[in-house]
Amino acid sequence: MINLGVLVSGSGTNLQAIIDGIDAGRLDAKIKIVISNNANAYAIERAKKHNIPAFIIQDSHFKTREDSDRHIVEIIKSHSVDLVVLAGFMRLLTPVLIKSFPMRIINIHPALLPAFPGLHAQKKAVEYGAKFSGCTVHFVDEGVDTGPIIIQAVVSVDDNDTEETLSKKIQKEEHKIYPEAIRLFAEGRIELKGRKVVIL
Ligand code: GRF
Repeated sequence: MINLGVLVSGSGTNLQAIIDGIDAGRLDAKIKIVISNNANAYAIERAKKHNIPAFIIQDSHFKTREDSDRHIVEIIKSHSVDLVVLAGFMRLLTPVLIKSFPMRIINIHPALLPAFPGLHAQKKAVEYGAKFSGCTVHFVDEGVDTGPIIIQAVVSVDDNDTEETLSKKIQKEEHKIYPEAIRLFAEGRIELKGRKVVIL
């Protein structure tokens, strides 16, 4: 059993997929805390419904993002979190946070990295004319969506797909591979060789 800290900013459908995976017994983990940088995130309601302590930490309450991240680090550390899970956390982490949990922070990105990093990945895939896109679970390093890749899932991009329809297809896959990646981590089956992840 591992302890998770989940960072969110929005609707929290990935948070929900993780909660559901735990409740269904597919994932041997406990979500110790949810932290949101957005007071209006629906993800906070999802946490409350499942009696998971939720903290709102807004950058505007701190002088710098580093100060805000220092506060996040304190909260995570005081809850014995083994793995930090970014689930739609819509702001870049500073080195303060990244260096505190080396190779213990993961993210899900709605494209097949290294294609379309950063914001609006689904829109970029449609506009570029990619025939396939998907989602990637990866470790977080100091670059933008550049860390070692753990799992990817592929979806086709059809001629009539829009940003919205592609996003829906990708999210369906996100909800499968994110709990799966956490399960692999929890079972100690993720080994890093250079920048490559080997699944044991
Ligand atoms: C997902 O599309 C994820 O790939 C991206 O942010 C979105 C979060 O959605 N990083 P949700 O809040 O989990 O519904």
